Amino acid sequence: MTADNLVIYHTPVMVTEVIHYLGVRLGGLYGDLTCGEGGHSLAILEAAAPGGRILSLDADPDMLVVAARRLQHYKDSVTFINNNFSQVAKVAEEQRFTSFDGLLMDLGISSRQLELESKGISFLRGPLDMRLDPEQELTAEEIVNTYDEKELAHIFSTYGEEPRARRIAAAVVRSRPLSSSPELAEVIVKAVGGRHSRSHLHPATRAFQALRYEVNDELNSVRTGLEQAVDLLSPTGRLVVLAYESLTDREVKTYFKRESTNCICPPHVVECQCGHKARVRLVSRKIVSPSEEEVRTNPRSRSARLRVVEGLQADN
Ligand SMILES: C[S@@+](CC[C@H](N)C(=O)[O-])C[C@H]1O[C@@H](n2cnc3c(N)ncnc32)[C@H](O)[C@@H]1O
Repeated sequence: MTADNLVIYHTPVMVTEVIHYLGVRLGGLYGDLTCGEGGHSLAILEAAAPGGRILSLDADPDMLVVAARRLQHYKDSVTFINNNFSQVAKVAEEQRFTSFDGLLMDLGISSRQLELESKGISFLRGPLDMRLDPEQELTAEEIVNTYDEKELAHIFSTYGEEPRARRIAAAVVRSRPLSSSPELAEVIVKAVGGRHSRSHLHPATRAFQALRYEVNDELNSVRTGLEQAVDLLSPTGRLVVLAYESLTDREVKTYFKRESTNCICPPHVVECQCGHKARVRLVSRKIVSPSEEEVRTNPRSRSARLRVVEGLQADN
């Protein structure tokens, strides 16, 4: 299967809430920093028409091929860019977009990428690759076959929150060389046995997530992407983030909390030393979750957590 012959598109998650919290207005300028198959980009353009424009970015060029087909009707209103959102400041400057009415980050991967055999992101199929950007050099195969046991355990533990990280790392090192995702999954199952005791996850889920994070440097990209996105907001422009994994959601939550706070000195400091100034305000203090109806019709939305901030006027 290639991305090019797809007919059923990835269903965008919480699309009504995304449009609502972005506050999409006619003729506005928006940025979809995780375009994927363009479901959210399309909804934003529909809500902003006539006159709305969007910068739609993705690290995976295959996804942009699909999105271009889906957004054919709005082709004059979209600028597609194949890049990492950690480069969004540079991309916006090159495209001469200085400030956005709204930016969206729908983090992680799409169901299509999970299913694509060539990417090997799922433990069911494919080579140990896991790159979103096929031009990038580091692959899961290189990590699995060359990192030492301690490094592997650290990755499984930090990026997968895997309690049996050391046991899995030792088994991986003993089983080298490994070249396919199902092969690695089998090694993990043998190392840790049946299912996770307190969850219904496949035993390889956390280790696979960890490898994907390491291959694509996901947490650092999210940190940099958030930082640059906030800089690109117009006063009162909004940044909406959807996260599905607790690790990335925690990153978003921590960042939004810090950037919506004027002083970030430790609690015992009586007089502010840091001089930190809030750059955004929290639009919703609590996370926004999908409706029961959406979870029923699109189970993938189950773990979605939406957070939103608004840019502050310069004198705030
Ligand atoms: C959940 S999907 C987005 C789905 C999209 N909202 C839609 O409606 O089709 C996440 C997308 O973000 C992309 N992505 C993940 N990390 C990225 C990064 N650091 N920079 C750019 N794109 C990234 C993935 O390639 C994937 O296409």
